[in-house]
Parts: sequence; structure tokens; C-alpha cells
Amino acid sequence: MNKILVTGGTGYIGSHTAVVLLQAGYEVVIVDNLCNSHAKVIDNIEQITSKRPTFYKVDVTDSARMEAVFEKHNFAAVIHFAGYKAVGVSVEQPLKYYKNNLNATLVVAKMCHKFKVNKIVFSSSATVYGDNVSPMSETMDLLPTTNPYAETKAMGERILTDFVNSSPGMSVVLLRYFNPVGSHESGLIGELPQGIPNNLMPYVWQVAIGWRESLNIFGDDYPTIDGTGVRDYIHVCDLADGHLAALQKLGVGLHTYNLGTGQGVSVLQIVKTFEKAVGVKVPYKIEPRRAGDIAICYADSSKAMQDLHWKAKRTMEQICIDTWRFASTQPSL
Ligand code: NAD
Ligand code: UFG
Repeated sequence: MNKILVTGGTGYIGSHTAVVLLQAGYEVVIVDNLCNSHAKVIDNIEQITSKRPTFYKVDVTDSARMEAVFEKHNFAAVIHFAGYKAVGVSVEQPLKYYKNNLNATLVVAKMCHKFKVNKIVFSSSATVYGDNVSPMSETMDLLPTTNPYAETKAMGERILTDFVNSSPGMSVVLLRYFNPVGSHESGLIGELPQGIPNNLMPYVWQVAIGWRESLNIFGDDYPTIDGTGVRDYIHVCDLADGHLAALQKLGVGLHTYNLGTGQGVSVLQIVKTFEKAVGVKVPYKIEPRRAGDIAICYADSSKAMQDLHWKAKRTMEQICIDTWRFASTQPSL
């Protein structure tokens, strides 16, 4: 029983987690509809690990096709990454976000119930804390009203909480990620979204590499060190290690963990650190604030440290160097 279903596994966090799972001896089956990733990621995962994950190009909201996948494999657990993730887009297209993120979670829960798969690890988000005062702690009341994306994550948590409470023997782990950045040290996988990046770091490297003219910084009038937004940027490989720890250490019941570093870093600090670490300029323009954004968000990461013996190890400089290694392998536009 060491076969893990990774939904959204060709995506950014899913692919790095698939690598960690394969290296730890698990078998990995990936389901992804490639709406925000590329099939070539499967080859790259194989190149890194010398093991090829089984891949299905399937939409997780498609119950019938998901049922066929579950019929074929005997899964020990599901790590459910598949979903939309852009805060700003969710404000413009809320229905698209509710439909995809909630239906995907409902189908995963339904399949686990039907096929008696008793462990789900769910990709939640620090955005569920909304405008709480940082550091964000797991004991805080959730305030997801800042944007529809955050609401989809809070609702996903609620659905899985009710599900675990009604299912003896079931284990659900809610992992609230802060801001994953960086790339695998091989440079073979990283964050390569379809189209114009919504997240900061892929935008930064696409400017640095010359794909885009300049970075738009959304707001310099926040009550922060330099007026730009502050987030808790965590290396994606540290985050992937956190999934392995959660998978291996947690038993029956509901478990909720922040996965962050505990450090807040501003957008301008990221730009300066990146420029210094890789020696390339990142021109930027100050633009108005982005809808749905908050000023400051960083983690109290002590619970994960205590229970999972997990801690983010990699530095911001390392993050920039690894990001640049991945960026440098991309073909020119
Ligand atoms: P990503 O977009 O790179 O990966 C998500 C993957 O899911 C993509 O490969 C996409 O093609 C796939 N997908 C989306 N909807 C699907 C569907 N209906 N059926 C099948 N595949 C589908 O994003 P990521 O950064 O790897 O994020 C993974 C998860 O973590 C998401 O649920 C996201 O909300 C959550 N999360 C991300 C961040 C972040 O900053 N990256 C932070 C907190 C939480
Ligand atoms: N930002 C810019 N310019 C850009 C992109 C972002 O200035 O082109 C700023 C944002 O305004 C914010 C910071 O950079 O202050 C980080 O923005 P991201 O879009 O990279 O990340 P978010 O914090 O908005 O959200 C991300 C993921 C969510 C996840 C959340 C967890 O997109 O899925 O981190 O903290 F839930």
C-alpha cells in the first residue's frame, strides 16, 4: 500500500512533491487536466528520480473518469493539489473558482469514500486567515472573505472536516501553504504557468530573462517596511518535504498545519535579493493595489515543527538561485 494519487501533480507544488514521494519509495499516479501545467513535466520528474509516475490527463471534476482511475489503482492516500490558485483572477471570475475548486474537492472525497481510501492531504492556503494579524496561527478564526479563492479553500477545508468527522478510520490533513517559490535544484522543474504569471516569482524571473519588460508591483502604500506587500516565501522543496512528513506521521482524524518559514518579506526585498543573488536587473513599475490582496501575511510555523519535526531550511538567496537555474533552462520566446 504505497501508491499515492497526486491530483494536480504536473503543477508547480505537485511536481516537486511527486519527486519527493518517488525518492522516498512511493509509487505515484498523477491526474491533471494540464489547464495550468505541461505534460513534459512527467519526463522531467522521471529524469530527476529515474522513476516515471503514471499520468492521466483527466479533469478531477469529472466523476466518471476519476472513478475509472480509482478502479485501476489501489491508493494508500490522495494528495489533492488540483485547483485554481490566483487570488486576483478569483475576484474577477468567482464562479469559475467556486466551480472548479469545490467540485474537484467533492469528487476526491466521493472517490475516497467509495474506494475506501482513508487518507487525504489537502492543499489549503494562508489566504484562509484573511486580514488576521500575522503571524497566522492554526488556532485563529478564519477570515476568508478577502477574496473568492480564499473562500474556496475555507469551504474545501469545511467539506473535508465534515467528511472526516463522518468517516471512522479516515485521516485528513489540511496544509495551509504560505507562498511557495523556488525550484528543484536540478533546474528541471519549477513554476511555469500557462500564459502571463499571476504570482510574483515567475513574473520576476520572466522579466529577468527578458520575456517581459518590467514587473508591476501592486501597491507601495501598504503599512509595511517599504510600502509593498509582505508574504512568507517558502522554498517549494521544503514545502514538498512537509507533505512527506504529513503523509508519514499523521494518523486518524483531522490535522491542520501551516507550512511557512515564519519570516515576512516584502515585494521590493524579493526584487533586491533576486538581483543580488543572480546578478541580473529586474526593472519594475509601481501600479495600484491588486484587488483581493492584503498587506501582510506570514506564518506561525511552530505547530508543524513540533508535531511533524518539519522546518523550512532553505534561504531566500537559495530560492533566488534555484529559480534562476530553472529560468535559465527555458527556451527563449
Ligand atoms: P499549479 O497551478 O501549478 O498546479 C495546479 C495543477 O492543478 C495544475 O497543473 C492544473 O493544471 C491542475 N488543475 C487545476 N484544476 C484541475 C482540474 N479540475 N482537474 C485536473 N487538474 C486540474 O498550482 P500550485 O502552485 O502547484 O498549487 C497547487 C495547490 O496548492 C492549489 O490547490 C493551490 O490553490 C494551492 N496553493 C498554492 C499556493 C501557491 O502560492 N502556489 C499557495 C497556497 C495554496
Ligand atoms: N505581486 C506583485 N506583482 C505581481 C505579482 C504579485 O506586486 O506581478 C505582489 C502581490 O501584490 C503580493 C505579493 O506580490 O503582495 C505576492 O503575490 P502572489 O500573487 O505571488 O501571491 P499571493 O500571496 O497573492 O497568493 C499566493 C497564491 C495563493 C496562496 C497564497 C498563500 O497565489 O494561491 O499565496 O499565501 F493561497
